[in-house]
Amino acid sequence: MLERDQWKSRVGFLLAVIGSAIGLGNIWRFPYLAYRNGGGAFLIPYIIALFSVGIPLMIMEQGIGHALRGSAPLAFARIRRRWELLGWWIVTFVTFGILLYYTVVLGWCANYLAYSFTLKWGANTQNFFEHTFLGLSKGPFYIEGFHLVVLVGVAAIWFINWFIIYRGISKGIELANKVMMPLLFLITVALAAWSASLPGAMVGIRAYFHPNFEVLKTPSVWIDAFGQVFFTLSLGMGIMIAYASYLPARTEIKRNSLIICLANCAFGILAGFGVFATLGFMSVKAGLPFDKVASGGPGLAFVTYPQIINQLPFGRTAFAVLFFMSLIFAGITSSISILEAFISGLIDKFGSSRKKATTVTCVIGFALSLIFATHAGLYWVDIVDHFLNRYALLVGGLLETVLIAWIYRSSRLRGHINAVGDHKLGIWWQYLVIIWVPLVLISLLTASIYGSVRSPFGGYEWNVLAYIGFGWILATLIIAYVFTRLNWKRVVDDK
Ligand code: ALA
Repeated sequence: MLERDQWKSRVGFLLAVIGSAIGLGNIWRFPYLAYRNGGGAFLIPYIIALFSVGIPLMIMEQGIGHALRGSAPLAFARIRRRWELLGWWIVTFVTFGILLYYTVVLGWCANYLAYSFTLKWGANTQNFFEHTFLGLSKGPFYIEGFHLVVLVGVAAIWFINWFIIYRGISKGIELANKVMMPLLFLITVALAAWSASLPGAMVGIRAYFHPNFEVLKTPSVWIDAFGQVFFTLSLGMGIMIAYASYLPARTEIKRNSLIICLANCAFGILAGFGVFATLGFMSVKAGLPFDKVASGGPGLAFVTYPQIINQLPFGRTAFAVLFFMSLIFAGITSSISILEAFISGLIDKFGSSRKKATTVTCVIGFALSLIFATHAGLYWVDIVDHFLNRYALLVGGLLETVLIAWIYRSSRLRGHINAVGDHKLGIWWQYLVIIWVPLVLISLLTASIYGSVRSPFGGYEWNVLAYIGFGWILATLIIAYVFTRLNWKRVVDDK
């Protein structure tokens, strides 16, 4: 039996997993999707997706990580040696893909946190973000170097990630989450209350709670809801597998998964409340119809919010500082979980020391993330994010479900989960992971492919999408293949 790091407490583990789940996705993706898809009505497909796909997959990933005591590459190799490739591919495209732009966006947040003290973005926030700050170039292939401030922000974020992971599970990840998560919660409650007290906030809150049920007839609303549940719960990323591998022998996988998913969902709804209230204030102030005031993704955080902050009657700096701090806390607790999914794979396979694996990965990760920090970075964030979320995550999630539910067998995993915990998992879970989840993932993938074929994503040219989007996926596959071919420094079956 080999020594494996462990969480110090159950609360620490829960906070770490909730920290992984709550991220930028909750603050700028969920509210925006709700805004675009019928306000409160969006909660219906979202909650259906949460219960029918999110929670079952959360249980499955944690169950397999716990049963097979390993990172995704090790756990999958223990099921079938050939499937190790899938484990490497997942942790590779998440770390050398999603994490690379995630850290850059967090770097922008760090810059904006500093700018909050002087409201440096001025009156034209769009011009400031795109031109003064990023120096956005003409197109994705006009790289043209980068601004030093952006680089410093990104370096700071990588340093924080390195520092936390370097210290290990209990002294690093667990401690960081124990500090950041309560702070994040307090800040979010404070911001939501503050936003609700702004003049005009009710316009937004009413839109949030007075749903437009008509939109439920539109398939894209359902696609958005299922896709969001996947991203927000950090599923299909190898994170839950790695995190659960550090749990003690007896553990409540079913109950933990429920708590995590509901906490994440509650946080999303709370953040949405704050965002809608703020947008209501903005629409009244600017005299614009409510559905014309917001954008999603980076636009919401770096253009719309600064614009709203400029209009606040008092406490502009305090509001701005709290907002960007909440993004940084939410983002860091997610980015360290992505990094850990990969690092735990390196430790498992090559017997590397945590310190060495962390340092090497962070140096390479920082260097590669620079492409997103260049003057063309925003385009690259846009394209790579789209391809990894729309294709890689879904393909990875589908194959992983086939491997675990069909090949390893869901009945066997349910037996394990019920043997190590007191809260029994019913047979319903098996039906969901064997049939329903694969069906949903296949439908989402088909819809994504259909949408992309009909019109190229984001108005980019086909060749740009092929080189950057598919090129990125191909590159991560090649790296994963190389890792798979290298020899194990341990006996794979020796738990
Ligand atoms: N689950 C993380 C987020 O929502 C990745 O941002």
